[in-house]
Amino acid sequence: MSSMKKSASSKQNARLLRSARKAMQHAYAPYSQFKVGAALLTSKGKVFTGCNVENASYGMTNCAERTAIFAAIAQSGPELNIRAIAVVNDQGVPCSPCGACRQVIYEFGPDATVFFQSAKGWKQTHITELLPEGFRLK
Ligand code: THU
Repeated sequence: MSSMKKSASSKQNARLLRSARKAMQHAYAPYSQFKVGAALLTSKGKVFTGCNVENASYGMTNCAERTAIFAAIAQSGPELNIRAIAVVNDQGVPCSPCGACRQVIYEFGPDATVFFQSAKGWKQTHITELLPEGFRLK
């Protein structure tokens, strides 16, 4: 195998979107009624998913993207390298990762591809386009 960095194949992209839609059904969103699902692909080819989990104290809400990332770490350890992450919602409206999630995606995926619904339809972009000059300590 070559030493080139692998990008996700269209088959993997389709799998990610399917996984994100499935996770979305588990969302706990009684306050916003806006269900979100996320699925990430690791550099080892594994997929982890998450959904949004809201709280009566609204600010405690966890977005689907961070839920997926935290689940990946909890289940597989801290050596997470996100190759791609997909975000879907149940209302078919534009929904790009929020600023907090961009920073968390960047921590584990400085070269990640991000799929989300934009105002102009499905968008595939690089995390550094969404988060220029992301913060790093190492
Ligand atoms: N939300 C996500 O889970 N991900 C996003 O990318 C945008 C927003 C959730 C948070 C909250 O539960 C609901 O959507 C409305 O903001």
